[in-house]
Amino acid sequence: MNIILTGDRPTGRLHLGHYVGSLRRRVELQNSGDFDEIYIMIADAQALTDNADNPEKIRENVLEVALDNLSVGLDPTISTLFVQSAVYQLTELCFYYTNLVSVSRLRRNPTVKTEIGLRGFESSIPVGFFIYPISQAADITAFDATVVPVGQDQGPMLEQCREIVHKFNSTYGETLVMPDILLPENEASMRLPGTDGQAKMSKSLGNCIYLSDDPQELKAKVMSMFTDPDHLRVEDPGKIEGNTVFTYLDAFATTEHVRRLWPEYADLDAIKAHYQRGGLGDVKVKRFLIDVLEDILTPIRQRRAYWEDRIPEVIAILEDASLVAAAKAQKTVERVRQAMRIDYFSDQSFYEEAVERYEK
Ligand code: TRP
Repeated sequence: MNIILTGDRPTGRLHLGHYVGSLRRRVELQNSGDFDEIYIMIADAQALTDNADNPEKIRENVLEVALDNLSVGLDPTISTLFVQSAVYQLTELCFYYTNLVSVSRLRRNPTVKTEIGLRGFESSIPVGFFIYPISQAADITAFDATVVPVGQDQGPMLEQCREIVHKFNSTYGETLVMPDILLPENEASMRLPGTDGQAKMSKSLGNCIYLSDDPQELKAKVMSMFTDPDHLRVEDPGKIEGNTVFTYLDAFATTEHVRRLWPEYADLDAIKAHYQRGGLGDVKVKRFLIDVLEDILTPIRQRRAYWEDRIPEVIAILEDASLVAAAKAQKTVERVRQAMRIDYFSDQSFYEEAVERYEK
């Protein structure tokens, strides 16, 4: 069986970083027909681990993230788009897995470590946040996922999940499926910087281009993008390295885009060579980037409009999918209970052995 599980935290609208880091790939995988089951999870319970005091934010964004997924082409008749908290089996698995992970191992998880730093948690870190790598292992294993397509930042989570699977299987016998991570195909997609050239797109830095941005917002954001600060006159040679506009082109522009939208050049390398030589201005390159992004975002906006007109249907999709997901996770819970020897009431041998043991 080939099974995909992946998901997003509903803490805000999804942006181009999410698109190249994971959304684009998940739709390609969906359309490849290579997978028996595809689960896309809206990770509201995980989002609460560091937003416990702001449940309204999560509540609003559940639908926003559902719309983002549908608008990039997720097909609810192929993929199961569900809500994490509606599948309480995940909580049960997480609780059992906590026995298999040490506090020091969690502290060493690089993602947890940096996020603790970013959020200024230090020792006031909520336990739920601290153990979210374990909860994520529950998400993945509950669905017998073989492939987890995610951004590079999720690498340490997958590593931790694989350790838990290994530990569980060696302690209780082969039960859980070992998942593989699937990273974005190119370097630029792995780590798309913000429009200001900062390492990451982040809502708090205000450097994101959202999937739901309209053409005016998109244009304004690209036009103000960080380029090469030393490229003052058009004739000057320009730098590609660290030039955000080119990083975006690496992530988004295909050779087909170049031939169709800027036929003076054969491919992206030819554009880069001209820029490096001198004589190609930032504005022209930015206009091309806008055209490329419009090419990608226009159908996304159209699908979003379609689903925004059908909100009751979107809610029904989430509710039905959550039942499907829960039924799948329930099967895993039963296997886990059996392996852990806590399946007393569904195991006839528990009954028979007990009766025999106490026989007079
Ligand atoms: N941690 C992921 C994120 O921040 C969301 C997520 C939760 C996830 N559980 C998952 C991703 C399981 C992949 C697999 O975006």
